[in-house]
Amino acid sequence: MKNQPTIVVLDCGSPRTMDIARRVREMRVYSEVVDASISADELQRLNPAGLILSGAAKDAAAGGLPVADLRLFDLGLPVLAIGTAARQLPRGRPPKGSAAGADSDPGLAAVATGKRRLYRALFEPEDVNSAAAKVALRHFVRRICGCRGSWTPRAYVKQTVEALRRQVGDAQVVCGLSGGVDSAVTAVLLHKAIGDQLTCIFVDNGLLRLNEADDLMKVFAERLQMRIRRVDAVDHFLQHLAGVTDPETKRKIIGHEFITIFKREAQSLPDARFLAQGTLYPDVLESLGIGKHGQVIKSHHNVGGLPAELGFELVEPLKMLYKDEVRAIGRELGMDDNMLWRQPFPGPGLAVRCLGEITREKLDILRAADAVVTAEIRAAGWYRRVWQSFAVLLPIRSVGMKGVERSYDYTCVIRAVHSSDGMSANWVRLPHKLVARISERITSEVAGINRVVLDVTSKPPSTIEWE
Ligand code: XMP
Repeated sequence: MKNQPTIVVLDCGSPRTMDIARRVREMRVYSEVVDASISADELQRLNPAGLILSGAAKDAAAGGLPVADLRLFDLGLPVLAIGTAARQLPRGRPPKGSAAGADSDPGLAAVATGKRRLYRALFEPEDVNSAAAKVALRHFVRRICGCRGSWTPRAYVKQTVEALRRQVGDAQVVCGLSGGVDSAVTAVLLHKAIGDQLTCIFVDNGLLRLNEADDLMKVFAERLQMRIRRVDAVDHFLQHLAGVTDPETKRKIIGHEFITIFKREAQSLPDARFLAQGTLYPDVLESLGIGKHGQVIKSHHNVGGLPAELGFELVEPLKMLYKDEVRAIGRELGMDDNMLWRQPFPGPGLAVRCLGEITREKLDILRAADAVVTAEIRAAGWYRRVWQSFAVLLPIRSVGMKGVERSYDYTCVIRAVHSSDGMSANWVRLPHKLVARISERITSEVAGINRVVLDVTSKPPSTIEWE
């Protein structure tokens, strides 16, 4: 970020590199993760106020990645080496006194003072989230590097708005809206920067939840007065999905048709030169291969990811942010919690929750059941306590009773999971009273369902979605 003093975290083979960058940002100091192969010249372009070398644990089999350019140590920057990275610190003028620094610098030991300001962490890489490590990192960042904590949502919005105006000039920008947090914040931030030079495209594929498409239009078109094209592609998707039961084929069709429609719409906008995307920092780091030493980063089949062949230049105003920072930016932009605190929703939408063949009738039944699950989960205060909670419609019918009549209807599943990244998950022990209420409401209010079951499997061995 221009004008932001930056703590640069060199990924020297620790699985905790990303955690370190997060801890620094929590101090309201901007941090960036770079590869250990960075040159001194490239580093200086990042406006560094200090350097953290994130090495592996002492006993790690791989032993860590070496810093490629030893001139990094001679830039006059404070350097903190964690784990095996400490072995790479060059010898400088030794500090005065025997255990120099250890008392005045909590959790750190000065290895060299004077022109070279080199420190070794007294905590191990696996302990970076401990209270002692936080104190040490804070001391390094605030005291030794002199960063004051000016990295606030307000400062970010101001700088990014200016940067977007410079990048875009008077050109037109297209942005795909999905209803998710990332694309919504991207669009609102861009709208603040360039107003009507932004056109959003929202493809209604008929696989969204109850009232979702209308609500989205209310917020963006009516309340925020943004230019937005709603493409009614409900019939198009239903036709392409007719008769398809294989989960992977469904996903492929939905992804492919989305791109076809989006492309057609975007290319029909005269003078559109840029495409805005809600890419986040973990995606960027993953594509750079950073953090692969054991730390799992979610990589998912994202239907919203559009291919480069569309021929637009990219605008990615969130690409240096983590999810919680995106929410903070959204709040700063005046967006309400309903939009910012949404559970993840898969790109292929309800298609992966409506098992077997997708029909309009089954989607309507699922939508009604899902609305009950969501309403009750919200009312009981569980919505933000869980990673995801939703209904799944099974393609099997069973016998039941409606009053005195025999019924032969579908079965609905209640699925709720705890997770931190979607890669693994635990099923949620929802209170029996809440489960009972959801079941009673679905069977009495939703025509077509006469049986409700609870999914009590974690991931692994299951996945979160049913398809
Ligand atoms: P699974 O079902 O693989 O899901 O355990 C893990 C997480 O990813 C979400 N998910 C998707 N997100 N496009 C997405 O953007 C997709 O195709 C997709 N499939 C699953 C899922 O909701 C869960 O949070």
